[in-house]
Amino acid sequence: MKTKILCLSGSLRQASSSTAVVETICRDIGDSVEPLRFDIATLPHYNADLGQPEVVQAFKATVEAADGLVIVTPEYNYSVPGVLKNAIDWASRPAYESVMLDKPVFIASVSGGAMGGVRAQSHLKYILNGMLARAFVHKEVIIPFANKKVENGALVDEGIKTFLMEGVDAFVQSLRERPRQSLGR
Ligand SMILES: Cc1cc2nc3c(=O)[nH]c(=O)nc-3n(C[C@H](O)[C@H](O)[C@H](O)COP(=O)(O)O)c2cc1C
Repeated sequence: MKTKILCLSGSLRQASSSTAVVETICRDIGDSVEPLRFDIATLPHYNADLGQPEVVQAFKATVEAADGLVIVTPEYNYSVPGVLKNAIDWASRPAYESVMLDKPVFIASVSGGAMGGVRAQSHLKYILNGMLARAFVHKEVIIPFANKKVENGALVDEGIKTFLMEGVDAFVQSLRERPRQSLGR
């Protein structure tokens, strides 16, 4: 059975470097993995009064079906973009019993500048703590000057790509060593 990984980009823009990194991961991750996708732009703003709209149910079902998540996020004003936080907020309910409970998450961050989104990455790990998800522990993948490292919707910097895929491969391996039955839900 293939390992299922839901790959999310924290940026909605067409020429996004985060999305290019996600596309590169999905392309290079290998045949033993089935990448799952979800367009987080289709989710409404979080509002408990909405109940569970169909699109939210679909998103949560996709998170639940995934053995792990890969999130590539840009940094917006020293943190994660609101659109990504919104998706995570939907997935995080009901509190401490959600589809995010015990969910392994691989994180990479990008930025147009020199910091590589390191502050957003740090915030994202803290946010995941709030729903008892598991940020995968490895050497942090930050991608500075990311817009210069992508071309035609893919990451083209070989050094970063090798470093990134080493982390992703270690993540996939950790999921294989961790049978689904041992997940907390
Ligand atoms: C609203 C906004 C806030 C930003 N804040 C930061 C920031 O705090 N730190 C940073 O390094 N880059 C910041 N940037 C620049 C982004 O890193 C850059 O636009 C990056 O390419 C966005 O990722 P994307 O290519 O995946 O869309 C910001 C961009 C926007 C649109």
